[in-house]
Amino acid sequence: MSPNPRSAKAAASPNIAFIKYWGNIDQAIRLPANGSISMTLGGLETQVMVTFDPSLQADELDAQSAEVGSDPLTRISQHLDIVRDLAGISSHALVETQSNFPSGAGLASSAAVFAALTIAACEAAGLELDSIELSRLARRGSGSACRSIFGGFVEAFSGEEDNDAYAEVIALADHWRLVDLIAIVSREHKQIGSTAGHALASTSPLQAARVADAPRRLDVCRQSILGRNFPPLANIIEQDSNMMHSVMLTSTPPLLYLSPPSLAVMEAASSWRTAGLRVCYTVDAGPNVHCITHADDAEEILSRLRTVPGVEEIIQAPPGAAARVL
Ligand code: PMV
Repeated sequence: MSPNPRSAKAAASPNIAFIKYWGNIDQAIRLPANGSISMTLGGLETQVMVTFDPSLQADELDAQSAEVGSDPLTRISQHLDIVRDLAGISSHALVETQSNFPSGAGLASSAAVFAALTIAACEAAGLELDSIELSRLARRGSGSACRSIFGGFVEAFSGEEDNDAYAEVIALADHWRLVDLIAIVSREHKQIGSTAGHALASTSPLQAARVADAPRRLDVCRQSILGRNFPPLANIIEQDSNMMHSVMLTSTPPLLYLSPPSLAVMEAASSWRTAGLRVCYTVDAGPNVHCITHADDAEEILSRLRTVPGVEEIIQAPPGAAARVL
């Protein structure tokens, strides 16, 4: 008689990188070229259920709304293989995912999927890993997923080998009342996903300089978070986003994620800051613009964002909680 199916369900939130990860020194195991810092996004959540079922002939994916790249089943199966190897099991699995936010629009949804998948798969396989081990493992599925294992403000280390590349908490979610106001200017799926994008980073002559300067940007960002000091945080967030997009634009082939409405929001956010409001912009591998603001200024920024042409919707997210078994 074959053993019974074993299931587990987990939830994780996406995150927005203040200091971006772009490019790998080892693409196969997603060893990032530089460290990164992010805020986990509260209220946005992906739930993943994994059922290892000895009666299945192959892994199966029932994806409702989650984004996991162009060939999701292969990518998820490869991730499950790592968990199966660790646990010494061979059963195929059914993976069911559900998200409460739009996929494919640069909201780092693969981070939430792979953080939740890692936790659910390990739980279902009977593996007992600590959060650093889970973070390291989540990174193999999606580089930014190592940060979504944790809540609040999180730093991921670059590392020279698999063992050193994981994330840790800088400060918990209640440390600072920041809010991410995500200006949605397009819901279309991006043409070039981040996995393909990372592979192009080293073709830009600007990437080496961006990577070499990363320790300085990480330092300014970490210190600004710890000291709750908004002006230097805002400047470094915008500079870091601009540096990543400069690398993207100068890759071969070039990657252009910013659209005219993205630029309009970016310009507006900078000018509102000059006028005294606590707000700055940052943009991932998509056209939507994350406006990082202080909770006390969020209402004002929200009403101003609604007047910027091209903004279709605004999603609000405060610092969120760590990923968890449900
Ligand atoms: O985790 P990936 O492979 O989707 O890469 C994330 C890349 C950025 O979102 C652009 C930057 C980041 O650090 O989240």
